[in-house]
Amino acid sequence: MKIEMTINGASKALDVPPMKRMLDVLREDLGLVGAKEGCGEGECGACAVLMDEKLVDSCLVPAMQMAGSDILTIEGLGSPDDLDDLQNAFLDEGAVHCGFCTPGMIMAAYALLSHDPHPSEEEIRVALAGNICRCTGYEKICRAVAAAAERGYGERIKSRAVRHGDRKRPVFSGEERERFFSPSSLAEAFDVLRTSGDGEVTVLAGGTDIGPDMKGGRLVPAKVMDVFSVPELKGIEIVERGGSSYIRVGACSTNTDITGSPVTRKHLPALVTASLRSGALAMQNRATIGGNLCTASGAGDLPVVLLALGAKAVAASDSGERELDLEEFIVGYRKNSLRRGELLEEIRIPVPRDGSRQVFYKRGSRKALTLSRASLAFYAYCEEDRIVEFAAAAGSMSPVPIRLKNLNAAIPGARLCPRLPDEAARIAYDDVNPRKTPLYRKTMIVNLTHRFFSELVSCRA
Ligand code: FES
Ligand code: FES
Repeated sequence: MKIEMTINGASKALDVPPMKRMLDVLREDLGLVGAKEGCGEGECGACAVLMDEKLVDSCLVPAMQMAGSDILTIEGLGSPDDLDDLQNAFLDEGAVHCGFCTPGMIMAAYALLSHDPHPSEEEIRVALAGNICRCTGYEKICRAVAAAAERGYGERIKSRAVRHGDRKRPVFSGEERERFFSPSSLAEAFDVLRTSGDGEVTVLAGGTDIGPDMKGGRLVPAKVMDVFSVPELKGIEIVERGGSSYIRVGACSTNTDITGSPVTRKHLPALVTASLRSGALAMQNRATIGGNLCTASGAGDLPVVLLALGAKAVAASDSGERELDLEEFIVGYRKNSLRRGELLEEIRIPVPRDGSRQVFYKRGSRKALTLSRASLAFYAYCEEDRIVEFAAAAGSMSPVPIRLKNLNAAIPGARLCPRLPDEAARIAYDDVNPRKTPLYRKTMIVNLTHRFFSELVSCRA
């Protein structure tokens, strides 16, 4: 496969296998060995680089998605003889410990300062949350970022004039043309699905799920179609149709798209929270809402909120579309109900009532880690002293995310009184039946349900 791209400001053309990881392309084909391999699974940040001005874990990006992109690695900042100011700040503060993780930390800091030249201490910590320092030297690392900001480093970063439009696509060779596809429109993607013979096409979006399997060349699917940049699968907007309206979220909208969209920020705060909590920034920049739904894991974050909000999944093919409730779409652990020839095109979410309360809670082993051990989403709308609309859903309680059916049946019409939190928590306890660590998970459900209703009652008091 031939690809053209810009690396550290210079145009490059390469001939590499489509599913070779960007990390390996950088290190082996380009001799850029600053990015390191720690976990190879998107958890440590040692391989972090900027792609189209966004921080990504290069161990999760296949080479076919590098085509037409603008990539910045640690080598693009300064050379060993002429370090740039951010690199010097790390040296000055004694923030270079083992050295292995430092390039990833600096790239994460660069990504932060490029869009927020004067971050708060908390913002620095959040930006570096996906970069693991096993020697626990975070204090000095955070001080180095703050010092660079103080010296005006972020203000001097120039936009790299990323081309988002007529992006160069990969040119597949020989037998690759039967196995790898990079459609530029939805119609082209449907064509691929219709003509691909046995239907064994792995659909690739942000790669955060398939990426860990590419480690050491373990997984090369028989056929791969990259839909990450298909324009019809992007976009977040309110759609008016037939006298009602819904929020449309394109299936390839990333978590970063969701956290940055004025529509979701105004109408879907719990979805924004879940997107922020789904993983570190490099993961948020790549993980998509459609990927999260299609993966159909019981521990997925966004499906929990979408269940509580009554969202529908739209499965589309060149012969039309099907609108499915999420309980019809997610049919089992890692199983969705897409038929041959179909793609998940978009998610439709009823516009929540103004003044509704939406909350997403997640408990896991650390904030920046993707996997939850317990998660809960609530939607409630109150009039005077009564809850008139209510829905709740939970994740990590069973093989798939679930609605809390008994609670959802019992709460509409309930009065906001001091007894309500206890009563709701008791019902929620019986709504989940986790097989793993049941005592911990049930206790989480009880505590978080109690917390949500206590806050709801106190708001109205
Ligand atoms: Fe750990 Fe890529 S090597 S995130
Ligand atoms: Fe590598 Fe701390 S910088 S373990």
